[in-house]
Amino acid sequence: MSPKSLKAAGVALAALLSASAALAQAPAPASAPAPTIQSQRLWFGAAWYPEQWPEARWDKDLALMEAAGINVVRVGEFAWSRMEPSEGVYDLDWLERAVRLAEKHHIAVVIGTPTDTPPAWLTKAHPEVLRVDALGHVAEHGGRRQFSYSSPAYRAFCRDIVSRLAARFGRDPNVIGWQVDNEYTDESFDPQTRAMFQDWLKAKYKTLDALNAAWTTAYWSQTYDRWDEVPLNADGGNPGLLLDHRHFVTDTWISYQKTQIDALRAQISPAQFITTNFGGLGWSDNWDHYAVAHDLDVASWDPYVGQGQLDAARNGAVSDFVRGWKRKNYWVMETQPGSVNWAPINTTLDRGEVRAMAWQDIGHGADAVLYWQWRSALNGQEQYHGALVGPDGEPNPVYGEVAKVGREFAKASAAVAGTSPVSDVAILQSYDSRWAIDFQQHSKAYDQLKLLIDWWRPLQEQAQSVDVIEAGQPLDGYKVVFAPSLNVIPDAMGRKLADWVRAGGHLVLGPRSGMKDEFDRLRVERQPGPLVGALGGRVEQYYALDAPVAVEGEAGKGTAAVWAEQLSPKAPDARVILRYGDGPGWLSGQPAAIRRSWGRGTITYLGAWLDPALMGAFEARELSAAGVGPAFGPVPEGVEVMRRTAPDRDVFILINHSPATQTVDVPSGLVDVLAGGAPKPRVALASQGVLVLERPHAR
Ligand code: GAL
Repeated sequence: MSPKSLKAAGVALAALLSASAALAQAPAPASAPAPTIQSQRLWFGAAWYPEQWPEARWDKDLALMEAAGINVVRVGEFAWSRMEPSEGVYDLDWLERAVRLAEKHHIAVVIGTPTDTPPAWLTKAHPEVLRVDALGHVAEHGGRRQFSYSSPAYRAFCRDIVSRLAARFGRDPNVIGWQVDNEYTDESFDPQTRAMFQDWLKAKYKTLDALNAAWTTAYWSQTYDRWDEVPLNADGGNPGLLLDHRHFVTDTWISYQKTQIDALRAQISPAQFITTNFGGLGWSDNWDHYAVAHDLDVASWDPYVGQGQLDAARNGAVSDFVRGWKRKNYWVMETQPGSVNWAPINTTLDRGEVRAMAWQDIGHGADAVLYWQWRSALNGQEQYHGALVGPDGEPNPVYGEVAKVGREFAKASAAVAGTSPVSDVAILQSYDSRWAIDFQQHSKAYDQLKLLIDWWRPLQEQAQSVDVIEAGQPLDGYKVVFAPSLNVIPDAMGRKLADWVRAGGHLVLGPRSGMKDEFDRLRVERQPGPLVGALGGRVEQYYALDAPVAVEGEAGKGTAAVWAEQLSPKAPDARVILRYGDGPGWLSGQPAAIRRSWGRGTITYLGAWLDPALMGAFEARELSAAGVGPAFGPVPEGVEVMRRTAPDRDVFILINHSPATQTVDVPSGLVDVLAGGAPKPRVALASQGVLVLERPHAR
């Protein structure tokens, strides 16, 4: 960044922060708008752990960050033993000095609460707060996440340290937000948690008769006569129990988080946001991310590639899924500056890939990208992890590429900030369905992330914008909605979906849909359960496949693998649109997909996991029937188009994920945000190349 643009960025940040400081001091009006500092600009940053370094070094680190265009750091998340060296003895002065020094370098701060790593004095004096795993092992100090998430005693310690942080930094003009804990991961199976689970069940079912009926406990003599007989199984248990356990885990993380949110909200400025960084590469399913994200101002997650190169379809599909947690823009709180230390082989992203990934994140709705981490601690478990500077404190090779992204974000911030992806097309997801299938996969190849990506990819290519949202949410504004494996469809959800179709929506259900109710109980109507009537047809039988079978119909010819269902139309106007080829099995010549007009819309059931080409052709027909076309226009294969929209403009982000240069036809009336001026009508986009184009809306 040139000294001039550096200064301009600094001035802009200072103005933004003083505006937020003014907001912080003003009494909050009764109907204060939600704090939005998190999306007022493109944020770019890194995880910085000042407690790991001599203070004399901080200024140099921050200067190097500033020179790379970094405008936000996340600090504090594992520093409890530094903040409270012994019980009731606090030291936050060092953190205050770090925040002030960051401010001098025009770098804002997000404070992470340190509760993922309790200090040794705490667990020594209060061993009852330690987590117990499903096999009964008690966690030890020396790693992290060694606390029991349900422990009232642990929560009291959390409330105390978080309140101290909030009191000290809740009105700090350079602190823009808070991250609660770090990547909620491990539940506990200690006796206290088991008793809490039993109480939770009692509150839900009221009577044991109701629980016994919901779980069909007549099976295998599972009937319970006392609440304290109910086990706390991690896996292999009754599917109804397992589903309830996931809901209990979700509620327990929500209340764990709420302890900290309440402690923060009691003291912090409304201008500061609260988030937490969701781990598990966005796809972990220990608990319901929609429910846990509910109490946050903004969702954050930690996309890493691990071994190999950027998988653009995976990162794109999961990013859209993450955006759906709150149905709004999110933060990338951690991502890899080249490599990680936890993959089987910790390969490094190629030149240009770190940049492409950052822009892909923005394209799918991120307003911030922060690298993990600035610099590796000299000791500790993550010495080998990728970092922006080396152990000598000098830039690593990837620093230059990161600095380029920093310059680009600064340049594009005015155009991109304040925009969000908006789509005509949605894919439905539900944790109940994911859990219900994963408890009894029936085929080890039934990987629901792979299925999501297989459904998402052609939609992204053809519509160039896809929302992935929670089933049961309002569907207003969508022209067509896809539900790849909506296994659990309770009556109320079935009614909502049928009403939406009747009013003109186009609904496409995928294999395994509508098999279960909300207790993970088999529905008695056959699939798709409450939608059998609207579909005018049903699933006669499902089959796990160990070899592909032929499929043919209106969308063309191909194969199905992993899973295939034998359908039958019942209503005279239900149309078979795909059939299985001839063969020795039960599927021979049977319907694989049926469609019916229902009210003003259509409902389609696809019972097979199609090969990518046939899936693309199948979805193309669904999109064109619903009147959905490409948001930008046709582009060559391998080029991804993402669109973010505001009332006055569209911003298109194009990335060439393919290994060869591709030529893109650019419509007129667009501005090249990174290069400035009007782009050429035909742009040669190199491999990993990025194009950011703005289209002002006509007034
Ligand atoms: C994340 C974690 C970070 C760091 C990182 C390494 O899951 O939140 O603290 O350990 O992994 O990739």
